[in-house]
Amino acid sequence: MQHVLVIPGSLRAGSFSAALARAVCSLSVDGVETEYFDAGRDLPIYDQDLDHDPLPPAAARLRERITAADGLFIVTPEYNYNIPGGLKNAVDWASRPFAAHSLLDKKIAVVGCSPGTRGGKASVEYLRSVVPQLKAHLVGPEVLIPAVNTFVDGNGVVDASVRDRLRDVLAAFVG
Ligand code: FNR
Repeated sequence: MQHVLVIPGSLRAGSFSAALARAVCSLSVDGVETEYFDAGRDLPIYDQDLDHDPLPPAAARLRERITAADGLFIVTPEYNYNIPGGLKNAVDWASRPFAAHSLLDKKIAVVGCSPGTRGGKASVEYLRSVVPQLKAHLVGPEVLIPAVNTFVDGNGVVDASVRDRLRDVLAAFVG
């Protein structure tokens, strides 16, 4: 059984990426179990002076949940043509200590989304370029969801066409 941590790139309550991440967790794929995880608002900005025992609790929790997982499924918007700062901060915490970090050998899938036409393209390209540098493994194709606001209703329910695309990505963890 592949245990996949599903991570939204945005923390806001009405987040489209969080709605998609929750939709991923509602999908059923043989051989895959999912866990919704966000790093939270209490994760301090990465600082090497804080990176020692005892770690800040949110950083310890982040590393522990990633270490326990087989893979990560990241759903993210782009902020100013890159991943949101909170997600970058989580990657920074997860990527240390050098050569012995929690992301080593993890399978990582990335889906981008935005209300506009770009569909989170810059974030997806950035993350897909950095995953191999972290000695992790890309899973699934590059998936962008522009006009995401038209596929998520006011209750956070995601349209079936997008759920199908998300299921294809999730299935890649056992493909
Ligand atoms: C954005 N947004 C945005 N959209 C885009 O397509 N390209 C971009 O570079 C940016 N930049 C950007 C910066 C900042 C600071 C904000 C707050 C927003 C719009 C963004 O895609 C939109 O707000 C999404 O709805 C944010 O994702 P969530 O919170 O819905 O998951």
